[in-house]
Amino acid sequence: MPAQLIDGKLIASDIIREVTDQTRTFIGRHGFPPGLAFILVGSNPGSEIYVKMKGKACEEVGFHSVTDTYPESVDQRTIVERIRVLNADRRIHGILVQLPLPKQIDEPSVIESIDPAKDVDGFHPYNVGRLVIGLPTLRPCTPAGVQELLIRSGYDPSGKHVVVVGRSNIVGKPVANILLQKQAGANGIVTVVHTGASDLERYIATADILIASMGKAGSINGGMLKPGAVVIDVGINRVEDPSAKNGYRIVGDVDFESASEVASAITPVPGGVGPMTIAMLLRNTLQAARSIARA
Ligand code: GUN
Repeated sequence: MPAQLIDGKLIASDIIREVTDQTRTFIGRHGFPPGLAFILVGSNPGSEIYVKMKGKACEEVGFHSVTDTYPESVDQRTIVERIRVLNADRRIHGILVQLPLPKQIDEPSVIESIDPAKDVDGFHPYNVGRLVIGLPTLRPCTPAGVQELLIRSGYDPSGKHVVVVGRSNIVGKPVANILLQKQAGANGIVTVVHTGASDLERYIATADILIASMGKAGSINGGMLKPGAVVIDVGINRVEDPSAKNGYRIVGDVDFESASEVASAITPVPGGVGPMTIAMLLRNTLQAARSIARA
């Protein structure tokens, strides 16, 4: 039987509606909207599209947002100086530096220059540390979106073997840390596998919940899955497709067709995890604005 489709677009639109309502209340109480600042460096087509989509989403929910764009050749000091200004700006509650950054810029230093209270990406070591030890914090958007997808579609990870494929700082590490916490909506038995494993398939075959986040198009297929597994595909990969209008199409890390014959539930790409990332960014920004307004 084909797997149930986990509709990220639909779940994200529910969250966006909730954020819109809560933003109205926030503005009524404080007299100003939550504000989010984007920093976009260079002309990576993916990054440009993501920042545009995120800016549009801010408008939709009633946030104030600003986007600063810099050429590929910008130096680190210019970016850090701008972040210092944004850290002190009372109309800005969230700062998002779109990654990746060009080679001449040290990403960790840039992230550490962001006020942790405004770190709506949840990438600052202060917030990462709080996440790891189970304290409330701003959490990375894609991993928080993965957890929300599981909860809202009725797949509680508690007691389940969750296998995370990939160990990036943006997805793999934080999603593993979120899902292993002794907390509602988590409490999973989490294994993280990565390119260091010679027998990746042995781990994948034991997953009750598989989170594919290694960034390799279609590299997990139905034959590798435990029957009835829940599959969350975080991959967003461009593959050439001469029949497509722009010459490519977007696919996940999982071969959807074969996997949906074996899994009990699966996220599509596009329309699965992607929309959740934006919804969680909006939620984080509102959370940051509330904390800052209270302080
Ligand atoms: N690049 C890819 N994903 C992300 C993300 O979630 N946040 C930022 N800032 N950059 C990214």
